Amino acid sequence: MCPFEKPYKEITRFTMYKDLNKLPADEPLPFGYRVEPWFPSLLPAFAAALAVSVSDSPDIEVYPKLASKDGCVDLLKEIADAPGFLSGVSWLGFFKREPCTVLMASLDQVKQEGIIKIIGVAPRHRRMAIGSRILIRALWALRDRKITRAVLRVNRECRGAVQFFRAMGFQVTDSQVYN
Ligand SMILES: CC(C)(COP(=O)(O)OP(=O)(O)OC[C@H]1O[C@@H](n2cnc3c(N)ncnc32)[C@H](O)[C@@H]1OP(=O)(O)O)[C@@H](O)C(=O)NCCC(=O)NCCS
Repeated sequence: MCPFEKPYKEITRFTMYKDLNKLPADEPLPFGYRVEPWFPSLLPAFAAALAVSVSDSPDIEVYPKLASKDGCVDLLKEIADAPGFLSGVSWLGFFKREPCTVLMASLDQVKQEGIIKIIGVAPRHRRMAIGSRILIRALWALRDRKITRAVLRVNRECRGAVQFFRAMGFQVTDSQVYN
């Protein structure tokens, strides 16, 4: 089971979808930023990027493991070890040598949909199009694998994230209570 389906307290998550037939151009990250695909030896750097990216998110009260780097190591391992994990669509972004953004994706092997498991950008790097460019890159990579739809589930209390996903063309199709 996905670690995000076991919240510490009751939450409502939106399910959001995007068709991948029309995508914006895959533009390079701004100067100074670069991404590396998932590789097991990069797990500590992925965890550092995740921990800082969610440090101000309501999700840390819901998923206590997100509040520490060790907890993020556990969560990322669970995602990477689960069936359908797409290592080639999961990236760690650096600004110079600083891990500052992360995206993890997998495949729903029944529905053949790409799942954006998590995306985060460190607070001091936000609103500079880092999140949108890494997400668009992931959507293109899903489309390259003949996947036609992407899905994600987001805590509705993460209002900035919900607005970000709407701005990226994702539409809410459902909401579900998890407890
Ligand atoms: C959501 C998140 C990944 C966005 O990353 P980002 O790099 O700041 O996003 P971008 O700069 O690419 O934003 C693209 C557009 O999305 C919208 N957007 C992004 N953040 C927003 C916010 N907090 N409030 C409203 N709209 C927002 C805007 O339309 C923005 O375009 P603009 O800056 O030209 O107005 C980042 O805020 C984050 O890491 N949040 C904490 C972790 C989290 O909640 N992750 C999602 C759940 S897994």
